[in-house]
Amino acid sequence: VKGGFDSFMDKEIHDQPKAVADTLLGRTDASGDLMLDELRIPETVLRSIDKIIVIACGTAAYSGHVAKYAIEHWCRIPVEVELAHEFRYRDPILTPRTLVVAISQSGETMDTLMAVRHAREQGAYVLAIVNTHGSTIPRESDAVLYTHAGPEVAVASTKAFLAQITACYLLGLYLAQLRGTKFADEIQETLQELQALPDKIQSVLDDEAAVREVAQAMKDEPSFLFLGRHVGYPVALEGALKLKEIAYIHAEGFAAGELKHGPIALIDTGQPVFVIAPSPRGRDQLHSKVVSNIQEVRARGARTLVIAEEGDEAVVPYADILFRVPQTPTLLSPLVAVVPLQIFASELAKAKGLDVDQPRNLAKSVTVE
Ligand code: M6R
Repeated sequence: VKGGFDSFMDKEIHDQPKAVADTLLGRTDASGDLMLDELRIPETVLRSIDKIIVIACGTAAYSGHVAKYAIEHWCRIPVEVELAHEFRYRDPILTPRTLVVAISQSGETMDTLMAVRHAREQGAYVLAIVNTHGSTIPRESDAVLYTHAGPEVAVASTKAFLAQITACYLLGLYLAQLRGTKFADEIQETLQELQALPDKIQSVLDDEAAVREVAQAMKDEPSFLFLGRHVGYPVALEGALKLKEIAYIHAEGFAAGELKHGPIALIDTGQPVFVIAPSPRGRDQLHSKVVSNIQEVRARGARTLVIAEEGDEAVVPYADILFRVPQTPTLLSPLVAVVPLQIFASELAKAKGLDVDQPRNLAKSVTVE
């Protein structure tokens, strides 16, 4: 059942090219236009929504963070991302023009389900992005966009995360198409970029040995920090969560821009710091800002583990260890950048002799509040 892998987590990490490809499959018509028939919310409603609130927990919430950057950029609709349990117990402002997007692998997470019920009671439309067919959250939502990751067994979510991000991209591009906020050829171009992602993810998997070797060598480190900007920020959060969950190591993800506002005080000689470098081909200053952040932590003694695009030479002088990922447009880059972090956590947990699939104190789906 583990397909020859040591753990379900490793198998599921390797299932990721297929999880992304399957989530994209069959969602365009003959002319290449996006067609999300399952989205049974009336088009008039989708055209009129003025706010999106993503509700989810854990890894699923980080996919929502990625969605915020993409959907706001493509659709010019404000997107809030909120942990479902926080959303539920405040007094959120919801109207019939609010689209609530509930993201869940299991479709059974009680915190997310309660938030879905709350949102619907307040008159908002709820769209579920869920992996498990026949689960409760889609049944209680107005519509569902299924991720096609296949069953995920390991407690630490991997392929469901990539499939959730992919479904969020589809939603964003669909809304952009419907609302005319992007030209058809731009949408087509992004879709083509998205179609190229499964092969790119595969190429990261093909290079996994180097990541595993570093993880084994670092198995006794007591703490790791993760830095990222823009979509690299949720990737940093996810990298830290994986390490906490399965390797029981203290790990924190930060927005790289926050460094000077506190976290840089943590940097001491030898502190390992992962940095997710954005594409140097972006037209903004994102890349140079992150290069400065790498320099800043290194100047204070950090050991830097940098995830960077092939061909990015600017990071080379400041990276103690460099993991390469294929060139990918910034907004889509989490689909490749997170993969080395998943492999790293899995290998490190294994090197410590831990049960990778069934970490202590955790359940695969959290069905109590
Ligand atoms: O089934 P869900 O996607 O609703 O679960 C949400 C979280 O409990 C889940 O992502 C959790 O954080 C994972 N164990 C992360 O690896």
